[in-house]
Amino acid sequence: MTRSQSAPQGIVAGSIPLFAGHPAPELLPVRGIGRALAGWDGRPPLRAFNYGDEQGDPKLLDFLLARLNDTEQLGIGRENLMIIPGSTGGVAMLTRLLTKAGDTVLVDAPSYRDALHIFRDQGLVLRALPIDDEGPRLDALAAELERLAAEQVRPRFYYVVPNFQNPSGITVSEARRRAIIEQSNRHGFCIVEDDVYSDLRFAGCAPPSFYALARGENVLRLGSFSKTLAPGLRLGWLVGGSRQIAAFVASGVLRMGGGANPYSAALVAEFCRSGAWQAHVDWLRGQYQKRRDVALAALAEQMPAGVSWTRPAGGYFIWLRLPGAVDVDELERRAQAQQVYFANGRGFFSEPARGRHFLRLSYSYLSHDDMRVGIGILSRLIAQLAG
Ligand SMILES: Cc1ncc(COP(=O)(O)O)c(C=O)c1O
Repeated sequence: MTRSQSAPQGIVAGSIPLFAGHPAPELLPVRGIGRALAGWDGRPPLRAFNYGDEQGDPKLLDFLLARLNDTEQLGIGRENLMIIPGSTGGVAMLTRLLTKAGDTVLVDAPSYRDALHIFRDQGLVLRALPIDDEGPRLDALAAELERLAAEQVRPRFYYVVPNFQNPSGITVSEARRRAIIEQSNRHGFCIVEDDVYSDLRFAGCAPPSFYALARGENVLRLGSFSKTLAPGLRLGWLVGGSRQIAAFVASGVLRMGGGANPYSAALVAEFCRSGAWQAHVDWLRGQYQKRRDVALAALAEQMPAGVSWTRPAGGYFIWLRLPGAVDVDELERRAQAQQVYFANGRGFFSEPARGRHFLRLSYSYLSHDDMRVGIGILSRLIAQLAG
């Protein structure tokens, strides 16, 4: 398999990568970032070249503090916020610092594959909660917590992607959020909300975040510039209680290496302060909405009976349930032979067999035409396999 020089990681040249959870190249703000560079008169501030403050770039912290209090009503102070090297860097850091091998964490079924990978790297025990179209099922949560209490195990945290979940596209309803917070208080576990898609909402209002609903008690909230700017910048933010943030900021990695990506952070601070980020996000919403509409129309026109899928109101992903006779591995083999790549459902479950009739499609990366062609090929293969 070859890869084109300009294609992002994992994308085979000439293929239809329906799996790719990347922004499409034409959606990257290459010129705007260039203008931010020019705003430095070609001379980036010296601080951008040096080890940075452990908490993160001060100007970016100022910008985010104002924005998060304004748009999300978080009511946070500077002591509640830090810059992280992407949400991934934040999840890895808090996992390393809050847990040890053998500890238990709660995750959704399905959940974000790469977070599951980080938890497995740390040797954590994963307990999975099946989801429906409002988020994790509360009966499953209550039953799991009862089982754990009987085993005298306290889960360290519950990891959740609250808006337009990767992979399902589902948003956790406000009622579910409140009920989960109640359980977290009763059973003494923390909630880790990995919210990298909430700015990409196509319509309606977002439910308040777990952090806002819990008034900051025992919730860690992660955000990222990867989906609304560019993943290569490796920048995000973490909101939490002041004591917890202070402990993270004082951790060995930051003490030794300084704050997250000072050069990127200084550049992004310049971009954000000029108003360019908000304008870019507003534009992106319309772009992704069109792509979502094309994907949903292609599915409605081409998929055979017996296939169902989610209709996300934002984000990047659609989650497909295959008819019982169709195994996703066989479908994957046949699709790859035709250069169509999707994300196999098995990767998103702590028990992979539960994903054997599911797959994830992404509409963030492909052109409208490729999306229609890719969905058409998949539809025909599913019809063949379903007999
Ligand atoms: C739920 C979720 N969290 C985190 C990430 C990665 O974010 P970052 O690039 O900020 O590490 C992704 C990207 O696909 C994601 O879907």
